[in-house]
Amino acid sequence: MNNSLLQVRDLSKAFGNVVTAKNLNFSLARGVLTSIIGPNGAGKSTLINILTGFIPPDSGEIIFQGKDITREPIDRRVRLGLCRSFQVANVFGHLSLFENIAIPVLAVERKAKSFLRSVAKDGEVRKEVDKILDRVGLLSQSHVPASALSHGDRRLLEVGIALAARPRLLFLDEPTAGMNPVERTRILQNIRDLSAHGEVTFVIVEHDMDVVFSLSERVIVLYRGHVIGDGTPEQVKGNPQVREVYLGEEVT
Ligand SMILES: Nc1ncnc2c1ncn2[C@@H]1O[C@H](COP(=O)(O)OP(=O)(O)OP(=O)(O)O)[C@@H](O)[C@H]1O
Ligand SMILES: [Mg+2]
Repeated sequence: MNNSLLQVRDLSKAFGNVVTAKNLNFSLARGVLTSIIGPNGAGKSTLINILTGFIPPDSGEIIFQGKDITREPIDRRVRLGLCRSFQVANVFGHLSLFENIAIPVLAVERKAKSFLRSVAKDGEVRKEVDKILDRVGLLSQSHVPASALSHGDRRLLEVGIALAARPRLLFLDEPTAGMNPVERTRILQNIRDLSAHGEVTFVIVEHDMDVVFSLSERVIVLYRGHVIGDGTPEQVKGNPQVREVYLGEEVT
């Protein structure tokens, strides 16, 4: 099997006159930390919504681990390992971090039809939850209610909740939005470590160019539904079309 995790073939989507994807063709390789960038309205969030099943494309195909998933519903994609992080909606403020992670861990077990068995094996669920909390750097706050978290820690908890679904490919839409520099450095280090660990392939949509260029191994630049740049951070920084689109912004 080759190293391609997800392939997009001739994917198109428009909302009336607004083209958000026009015959997009690219693949995402296992283990390669990829960022999708582009100006406001480029189609980044719409692309994530299409790939994860929230919005149907007008045409084209999405192949995940060799399987055509273009018409598969969200939950089926999640079970196959294609996930995105959700924002606050999934966090229960009055529950502890442990409980917030235990809920999706148990839900995954139940879907795997081993719910009763896993409850009997309480220790294993506990171990899995602790492992996830450790991975996102929140293990020491396991018993703290989620409502007491700082903004940055809350975003880390969201990543932890997404990890509970055991994703193979995880999309994060602006993971550092609203964070202070300390929180930002921390979540980036976490994402880097998680990616290096190898189980999960990350694709990040991000506006902060410092973040994008320091974190990513590959950068895909979207502009009005077209890919205008695709390569290593260095290649993308040197791309004249990318520089033109970002004129006035820092592509230094
Ligand atoms: N459900 C919708 N109905 C109509 N137009 C939409 C819909 N969703 C997105 N759009 C339009 O599609 C274009 C792309 O939107 P999208 O949210 O994908 O951009 P984005 O690249 O994520 O931008 P941002 O950086 O601001 O988050 C925008 O012009 C937006 O207004
Ligand atoms: Mg967006």
